[in-house]
Amino acid sequence: MSTPVVVDTVRGMREALASERAAGRTVALTPTLGALHEGHLAHVVRAAELADVRVVSIFVNPTQFTVPEDLERYPRTLDSDVAQLAARGVDYVFAPSVEEMYPSGPTETKVTAGKVGTMYEGASRPGHFDAVLTVVAKLLNIVQPDVATFGQKDAQQLFLVRRMVADLNLNVRVEAIETVREADGLALSSRNRFLGPKERHAARVLSAALEAAASASDGGIDAALAAAQGALMGENLVALDYLKIVHPKTFVPVDDGYSGPAIAIVAAQLGDTRLIDNQSLYLG
Ligand code: PAF
Repeated sequence: MSTPVVVDTVRGMREALASERAAGRTVALTPTLGALHEGHLAHVVRAAELADVRVVSIFVNPTQFTVPEDLERYPRTLDSDVAQLAARGVDYVFAPSVEEMYPSGPTETKVTAGKVGTMYEGASRPGHFDAVLTVVAKLLNIVQPDVATFGQKDAQQLFLVRRMVADLNLNVRVEAIETVREADGLALSSRNRFLGPKERHAARVLSAALEAAASASDGGIDAALAAAQGALMGENLVALDYLKIVHPKTFVPVDDGYSGPAIAIVAAQLGDTRLIDNQSLYLG
């Protein structure tokens, strides 16, 4: 088991990677907020197939938290994160302080996520996606990876990152990593630890609803949505925020009568914890 080199300055990260590149090695970046679980570890396993050198950034980006309590309660587990990454042979952990990333406070210059950035997750967390894209742009500029991994679980974020990379001609390949699930289908998330036993049990209906939508998708959008709503009904610990079927190329809801590939997205509140999930399907 090797220990990743933990770097906490922008300059240190750039210098370390300059020598890797000078030796002809390619670089993969997995950006994270830390509190790593098997879902993140799937990224670093895949990254090993994509590049010679693996960098994981661990930075609890304050600007993307719209509720101060969420930022406060976000778990900071650097030592155990580094130990998990060591067990997977990751080369570098970039773990800068807030002052290192934002020496003059939140940046005046920001990437805007556009209209899709104000929908779904963006509707309940105004400014969240602008902040995510801004910090991702900073991380991509610092690390300059050949490839960067983003989770399919955060489908809206993945869509927006891909669009930023295309719109701004960023020189990086974005690799989507499939969602890792518990045995009952619940998507792994660092927020799952906040669920009480009853909420944890209820949370399984989110993936069950998406499965139901996929199974009914031959019948079109109405059938898929009705099947998902049916699965959610009766689980009164789950307060549904949205359930939508969106087009993979635009991330806006598909029209009635649309037939083709789509993504069902869902978000719900369980007690104090907000969970999201999604599933690709094919509408008949
Ligand atoms: O998905 C996350 O963990 C974060 O939004 C990211 C991409 C690391 C940016 O802070």
